[in-house]
Amino acid sequence: MSSHPSREGGSDVGGGIDAALEELRAKFPARFAAATTEQALRDENAKILGKKGELTAILKELGKAPPEARRAINVVKQEVERGFEAALATLAKARRDADLNARPYDLTLPGRLLAPLGHKHPISIVREEIIDVFRDLGFAVHDGPEVELEENNFTKLGFPPDHPATDMQDSFWTTGGHLLRTHTSNVQVRAMSTHAPPMAFIAPGTVYRRDNDVTHSPMFHQVEGFLVDEGVTFAELKGVLTEFAQRLYGGDTPVRFRPSYFPFTEPSAEVDIGCVFCKQPDGRRTGCAMCKGSGWIEILGSGMIHPVVLENCGIDAEKYTGFAFGIGVERVAILRYRVPDIRMLFENDPRLLAQF
Ligand code: PHE
Repeated sequence: MSSHPSREGGSDVGGGIDAALEELRAKFPARFAAATTEQALRDENAKILGKKGELTAILKELGKAPPEARRAINVVKQEVERGFEAALATLAKARRDADLNARPYDLTLPGRLLAPLGHKHPISIVREEIIDVFRDLGFAVHDGPEVELEENNFTKLGFPPDHPATDMQDSFWTTGGHLLRTHTSNVQVRAMSTHAPPMAFIAPGTVYRRDNDVTHSPMFHQVEGFLVDEGVTFAELKGVLTEFAQRLYGGDTPVRFRPSYFPFTEPSAEVDIGCVFCKQPDGRRTGCAMCKGSGWIEILGSGMIHPVVLENCGIDAEKYTGFAFGIGVERVAILRYRVPDIRMLFENDPRLLAQF
């Protein structure tokens, strides 16, 4: 080796030291190569170049040696330093190769969810759909309280004081003439008392009645709707509600207006759609348990707002007319998703809710 340090400069720095340096120079590449981790490599390096390292010790002994001898040691020192850097790089490359050759991750596989994601409740889905349809038709959303005065829930809507709906058996009464509203029609009273016609509102909300069976829950949801203007007739009511039913259940859905009674509308009509359960591919209805063999299913109550109700709210009934309707949200959801028992919508069993 032409660069042999002990021969460089022609100076022998002493047999013992020379031999030690020679041995170190011969062996450090193998020592570095034997280190399989970065830490082991650094430890090995410290044994040579550290404060108490072998080369450092040799350097100390050379305190009085001539400059050529120091140069020779420095050459070895630089060799060791370069050897250390090279060994570090070799280790890093080995690590990277191992990573690249490891069993590959398939980045195109779908991720794994740690917890199942929730989603909207079917009642919320249906309520929002109903709101969307009426927003399209020009109705604005109006809010109203769930704890209401008897006056707004019943009296101003034309319920006589002894009407069965006002009975303790049918309503949840609190104190001071307040009750949990039994329908969203209280919002008609509130909006018509504070707004001048023309107006077109919908009022989605929660309502309460003392009912509990397969088709009734003590807490349920309605979307009220009402429109007041000059010259509004039953034709507008039919047009709006037919459009609504067909947007929700399909353009070929038959819609029927059946005479009915509500204290606050005259005339009144219940709206039926062709049964969604026994509808045949050709559109015929064969009749089934859900429609009690009739082929029709009721979806809402409606009517022309009674002139007395308009007057109770300060609207001139000679000048203005209007229509109103109330949709049962659970009913729409049940027909939409074919849920056999209304109470299943409130049990919140994730196995059921996940199906919507
Ligand atoms: N409030 C009525 C009910 O709860 C529904 C309805 C609303 C009927 C508006 C006519 C007009 O049954």
